[in-house]
Amino acid sequence: MRFRHHLFICENRRPEGSSRGSCAACGGEAVKQAFKSELLRRGLGGEIRANSAGCLDLCEQGPVVVVYPEGAWYVGVSAGDVAEIVTEHLVGGRPVERLLARVFPPPR
Ligand code: FES
Repeated sequence: MRFRHHLFICENRRPEGSSRGSCAACGGEAVKQAFKSELLRRGLGGEIRANSAGCLDLCEQGPVVVVYPEGAWYVGVSAGDVAEIVTEHLVGGRPVERLLARVFPPPR
């Protein structure tokens, strides 16, 4: 099966006090659950897949969500943003500009 969109939602958790923080510590798990619930509620589960991901290396900007096939990187996503991303981007084809990553870490 080929999904129309595939979402990778970081749920990585680092030990308490980590200098980089982690998506799980700032709501990544709730974001993934919100995507799963919203997609199910709208009957989109068969065409849009939301998966957990490990660290995507934008930890300081988490929670981080990447949407393919566009390769759109969302940062600072909260569960409250999920319905907007589904409506505007995944259904409407218009990425939610205010949540797109502006700063990526330098290549290593
Ligand atoms: S912990 Fe989520 S991007 Fe690194």
